[in-house]
Amino acid sequence: MSDQQPTPPLSNEARMRSHAPLIPPIELSAVYCMRDPDDADAVLGGETPGFAYARDGHPNAEALAERCRQLHDAERGGVCASGMSALAAAVLAITKSGDHVLVSDQLYGKSIRLLAGECARFGVGATLVDTSCLDKVASALATRPKLLVIETISNPQLRVADIAALSKLAHAQGTLLLVDNTFATPTLCQPLTWGADIVLESLTKMMNGHSDVVLGFLGGAASIWERVPSVISTWGLAASPFDCWLALRGLGTLEVRIERASANALAVAEFLTTQPAVREVFYPGLPSSSEYALARQFLSGGFGSMVTFTLAGGRAAATHFIRALSQAIPFAPSLGDLSTTLSHPESTSHRGHSPEERERLGIDGGTIRLSVGIESRDQIISALAAAFALI
Ligand SMILES: Cc1ncc(COP(=O)(O)O)c(C=O)c1O
Repeated sequence: MSDQQPTPPLSNEARMRSHAPLIPPIELSAVYCMRDPDDADAVLGGETPGFAYARDGHPNAEALAERCRQLHDAERGGVCASGMSALAAAVLAITKSGDHVLVSDQLYGKSIRLLAGECARFGVGATLVDTSCLDKVASALATRPKLLVIETISNPQLRVADIAALSKLAHAQGTLLLVDNTFATPTLCQPLTWGADIVLESLTKMMNGHSDVVLGFLGGAASIWERVPSVISTWGLAASPFDCWLALRGLGTLEVRIERASANALAVAEFLTTQPAVREVFYPGLPSSSEYALARQFLSGGFGSMVTFTLAGGRAAATHFIRALSQAIPFAPSLGDLSTTLSHPESTSHRGHSPEERERLGIDGGTIRLSVGIESRDQIISALAAAFALI
């Protein structure tokens, strides 16, 4: 993570006013008043900073985007109403009918649906590729797609992308690299510094960290940013002031939450490897993991808060285990909360995949994905141990 100092959400000038609020206020207004037509021309024409209509921009979105931009060392940044709307904004801003995109086959299911399903209706084609195989990516890039879309850490196998190699391969064909960094956050990885052109975060997850907003962030170089703000406004992808305010508050603790949750996750992964009921543990921080070398290269400060494991007893064992755990670790099919939660990919995130696709991704009925929180390590491990004792 960069050691740059965060810019305070309020300008120094605002802070120096006596009785200035320490934290930024929530500005819920949908519309802003203009002094006169010249003022309107100046604000709407972009010559004077200011706000006119909240769909185009508002102070809370600006403060949140600025904080995320700094965390990613991006030249430009913007927030959207969800991680999915951030992805939609990127595709709408960068591609046009007749273009095509190359998509990691391990991407979040809805991202695949957007890129390989919805986009086709607008004349943008998609090819899925196993981005952990650089040779396959190199040959797929020969068709010079507009965008290559990957995730820093994939779900649920937690495979780590070779962002530096993928960006070199993409750039050699004039392709832009978009990295969804949701499972890593900028605390562990800043994809733009490894050569990515665009970074995406579902702020809904660890970035906000409290499971009480749905929001997304997009950051990138000025050279690819030209159409992004107008796409966010015109397609109506803007975020609400209250959500932005909550997420900015959540970001204040991002680094300590991620470091603690990552340390907990490593301990949980090590514990799971000792359990006879567990057939396989996926965690990039385990030295035995196929992802360990890439994780050491691209992640710093921890290996992330997600741990996936497969119970030898299949779906019946998973059902039993999830029921036994439910008082201590809720089955809540999202991730990134303060407390540990779990998900069951077969019945939730990957239910739309065919059994063959699930098998290829290493998912069966016994696969469980933990989103490890910041509780005491002993508390999480004893809850898991108690559930193992019952199956
Ligand atoms: C890796 C990843 N990217 C993007 C998204 C979409 O984000 P949102 O739910 O904020 O639209 C998700 C949602 O689960 C996700 O897991």
